[in-house]
Amino acid sequence: MIDRHAHPDAQVVDATIRSRRAIRHFTDDAVTRRVVEDILDVARSAPSNSNTQPWRVYVLTGARKAALSEALRRAHADDEHPPLRHMPDALPHAMRARQETFGMRYYGALGVSKSDHQQRARVTARNFDFFGAPVGLIFAVDSTLTKYSWLDYGIFIQTVMLAARAVGLATCAQVSFARFQNVIADHLDLPCGDEIVCGMSLGFPDEASPVNRIDMAREPVRNFSTFIGFD
Ligand SMILES: Cc1cc2nc3c(=O)[nH]c(=O)nc-3n(C[C@H](O)[C@H](O)[C@H](O)COP(=O)(O)O)c2cc1C
Repeated sequence: MIDRHAHPDAQVVDATIRSRRAIRHFTDDAVTRRVVEDILDVARSAPSNSNTQPWRVYVLTGARKAALSEALRRAHADDEHPPLRHMPDALPHAMRARQETFGMRYYGALGVSKSDHQQRARVTARNFDFFGAPVGLIFAVDSTLTKYSWLDYGIFIQTVMLAARAVGLATCAQVSFARFQNVIADHLDLPCGDEIVCGMSLGFPDEASPVNRIDMAREPVRNFSTFIGFD
């Protein structure tokens, strides 16, 4: 019989998983290339279908990160790119409700009302500054791959976030970057066929910032699991 709470490895792993949060305000403290390399070195152990390892990671800092942010901010302001449809319009009811709760808490923490479209656009634009983080990551995948490889990618990205969390760093995965595939491809000179999966901000969290203290509730296990064949 396993007593999960008494297991020392579980205590560390569980605490790392449970304490990870999407962080959207960072301190100015730098993160070295070596630290990012170490995080990616841990994350490369993530499993993938037939060990295909579909990840390709671009790590940016300093002037090159600033230049990409500038280009993306301009593209966002020009509003010429079609909106990113990263979820279906007809989202299942329970998921829509959770999404709305997220929106209320997120914009609420920033003091922005639902109807203030200008302010909300400004909030969205902060994504492209990597929320002020010293390091920005862009994750790309071969565009011929299917949803099963994207599943591998999700596992990899969570592993990156946990490896970062374990050394006191914070992250925010950001699908927002996928809207600007062409801008990023031009800017980073991506090989033809590299599709943007998402971006990620990486740095030290500003613990005092209200936007970093939003509590995003999770459903209890019984609400999403069906146990079959147990006593
Ligand atoms: C794949 C993925 C894409 C995301 N994209 C964005 C994004 O573009 N902008 C943003 O502010 N947060 C983004 N998030 C963060 C989610 O909003 C956040 O994970 C969720 O609300 C749960 O909160 P938590 O991570 O603090 O537990 C993304 C998260 C994931 C996993």
